[in-house]
Amino acid sequence: MQILVIHGPNLNLLGSREPAVYGSQTLAQIDADLLKMAADAGHELKSFQSNHEGALVDRIQAAAQDGSRFIIINPAAYTHTSVAIRDALAAVALPFIEVHLSNVHKREAFRQHSYLSDLAVGVICGLGAQGYQLALSYALTQLQQHSQ
Ligand code: DQA
Repeated sequence: MQILVIHGPNLNLLGSREPAVYGSQTLAQIDADLLKMAADAGHELKSFQSNHEGALVDRIQAAAQDGSRFIIINPAAYTHTSVAIRDALAAVALPFIEVHLSNVHKREAFRQHSYLSDLAVGVICGLGAQGYQLALSYALTQLQQHSQ
């Protein structure tokens, strides 16, 4: 397993959840596009979504043992609250990109702080579902370079 995509709370509702903010694509469509993009490049990708902080921490911890080499994570609301998710990412020490569908910097003040960004390789926000694909494109380039 090489690339792990993690989606936080309420992202299971994408498609019907505030489409003006988060777009009309469902999570299943987003994941299917990412899976195909990774497979076309010869890499394995797994996706995981949970509404529960502890389940997200457990999945991040498991990434240290399952062959994951890169994480793409949209922690959703936990971005702004979760020291536990930050600590889990620091513990596994895998490179990760933080993705947000919306531009959190032009929204409420509480969305403008992230517990993760200073640990991330990079942060993409405001580009909708395409942000995941751009993150994946970067991850694939990195994996390619490090396997040569
Ligand atoms: C989000 C932004 C968060 O502030 C929010 O809580 C989400 C989604 C985004 O993708 O834009 O649930 O991470």
